[in-house]
Order: sequence, then structure tokens, then C-alpha cells
Amino acid sequence: MSEYKNRAIVLKQRPQGEIQDGDLVIEERSVRAPGDGEVVAQILWLSLDPYMRPRMNDSKGYMDPIGIDEPIVGESVARIVESRSDKLEVGDLVTCYSGWQEYVTFPADAPMVYKIHQKDNVPLQTYLGVAGMPGRTGYCGLMYVGLPKPGETVVVSAASGPVGTVVGQTAKSEGCRVVGVAGGPEKCDFVINELGFDACVDYKAGNLEADLKAACPDGIDVYFENVGGAVTRAVAPLLNNGARVPICGYVSAYNATDMARWKHLSTFSRLWIPCPSTAFSSSLNGRTSIRKSRTSWLHASPVEN
Ligand SMILES: NC(=O)c1ccc[n+]([C@@H]2O[C@H](COP(=O)([O-])OP(=O)(O)OC[C@H]3O[C@@H](n4cnc5c(N)ncnc54)[C@H](OP(=O)(O)O)[C@@H]3O)[C@@H](O)[C@H]2O)c1
Repeated sequence: MSEYKNRAIVLKQRPQGEIQDGDLVIEERSVRAPGDGEVVAQILWLSLDPYMRPRMNDSKGYMDPIGIDEPIVGESVARIVESRSDKLEVGDLVTCYSGWQEYVTFPADAPMVYKIHQKDNVPLQTYLGVAGMPGRTGYCGLMYVGLPKPGETVVVSAASGPVGTVVGQTAKSEGCRVVGVAGGPEKCDFVINELGFDACVDYKAGNLEADLKAACPDGIDVYFENVGGAVTRAVAPLLNNGARVPICGYVSAYNATDMARWKHLSTFSRLWIPCPSTAFSSSLNGRTSIRKSRTSWLHASPVEN
């Protein structure tokens, strides 16, 4: 056992629908002393991603469910505070799959441990967002599955989140007309005025079908699916012949109480495997090169995060 006082957010019981008090609790957990080749890292930034909710259910998706009494899974930005490895030194910054806790011990060569070479202008938390897993997912999903062409109309749901942000700004840089879908005027304002999308439809305003049709006068060539539900139903009639629909996620179903109805979603998730460097890829080269390209973009400042 090491000297660190560690608090972890632990799954105590599986949520039924929305997460309730008592489903997750904060507990003190010991930190294992590092063995040969291992390091201890202090977590600086934790990621909170939609996929964590389905992993609290007792059903196998593309990854195993979180065990009861185990910390909630998740990627983080961490600083190495102790090292018994020549691969990482004390003070190095990494992204790692630590789960929601303050300290963690792991082998320096564990999967999903990547050293951060921080660039000016690029805040550390960005390595969990635009320059991290969601950003890679959005970039790969759009470029490898969506195949956007100049002049086409690209629609992306959950437009103000890290995936949508990268999808929309990448599509803009490919010369597309870009329409976001987001909830509420504040998010839509951000999507248009900060991110530079051509339009944004507020799906909570009550006129989804009509507003989306007005925002897409030439129909939709690429729909980047993040949410499912009513937004997908509004998109479907507007899809042009030959349209592409990268299916990235279905947030509207993540709190469902009847998960049997949504079993097909894990199949869709597995279809991302051919796309290099998503959460499932083992391609280190792809991962680091995409991270470099996103951070260079941020460094040069055209991308909001
Ligand atoms: N396949 C992969 O490898 C992979 C990797 C990363 C992410 N993903 C998926 O990508 C999607 C976006 O991820 P993100 O991290 O960028 O998420 P995010 O935008 O930070 O969060 C999801 C957003 O979805 C919107 N939302 C919630 N319920 C909704 C509903 N019923 N209808 C419409 N919108 C709803 C909310 O925004 P509003 O306030 O605008 O409603 C919420 O902020 C998620 O589905 C996630 O699971 C997949």
C-alpha cells in the first residue's frame, strides 16, 4: 500500500433509468504500491462520457459492464507521481484509463496509456475531448464513414458536445454546409456563433421536423448519428439518395429501463471497428497522429473546444 489518500466514485447498485442517489458513492480506496515497470499517477482531469451510463447496466455491449463496487470507468489526464519504469518519469503527463478516482497504479506500458506532449493554447482537459477519444471518434466517423464532399449538407446531432464539435468543424473545413442539432437556444447560439456552423436546430423548441427541413433546403447528404429518437425520425425523410449515416451513439436510449429493446445498439457500436483509432482501435499510430492533427489545429486556433 502507498501513502496516497485516494477517493473513488464507485458503482454501488445498477441504476434503473436515470441515476438516483445511492447508485454511485464516494469511497476511500487504497492505492497499490507500484511494482517493477509500474507507475502511480495522480488524476488531474476526469472524463464524463455518455457511454459510461450503458456500462452501468448488467448487459454486455462492446465492453464489459462495470462491476458492483468498482470505480466508474473512464479516461483521465494524470501526472506521474511515482515511477518504477523507464518508460514514464515523475512529472510526465499522460492520458490513461484510470476510472473515476484520484490516484491509480498501472504498468507504464498498459493499453490506453499515452504520454501528452502539451502544446501552447491547448488546455490539458482538451486531451479528453476534442484532442482525445471523442474528437478522434468524430473525426474518423466523419472522414472514414461519412465521406463528406464539398457542397454537401452534413447534419450532426449533440452538436455542442466534443464529438459534434469536431464533426461540424471538420465538415466545415471540407467545404460542406453544416447543420447542428442541439437542445436549447444557448447551445444553438454557441454552435453557430462560436463553432461556425451554418445553422443549428433546437430540437427542444417544438418544431423539429419543420425547422430541420428549413435548415436543409437541399436535403441531407451525411447525418452523423449521436442521439437516435425524435431527431433521427426528423432526419430520415430528408436524407438524399446516396446519403451516409455514421452511427456513433444513441444518447436518447442510454437511460432506458427496458434495455432489451436497445440490444441492437451494441451491434452498431461494433461497426466502428474498421474506422482507425476510435475507442476500439489498437492502432497507436492512428491514435497519436490524429491527436497530433487535432492539437495542431487547436494550437493554430481555428477549432473551438
Ligand atoms: N462509438 C464510439 O466510439 C463513441 C465514442 C465517443 C462518443 N460516442 C457517442 O457519441 C455521442 C456524443 O458523445 P459526446 O461525448 O460528444 O456527448 P455530449 O454531446 O457531451 O453529450 C450528449 C448530448 O446528447 C444530448 N441529448 C441527450 N438526450 C438527448 C435526446 N433524447 N435527444 C437528443 N439529444 C439528446 C444532450 O445535449 P442537448 O442538451 O443538446 O440535448 C447531451 O449533452 C454519444 O452518443 C456517445 O455515446 C461514441
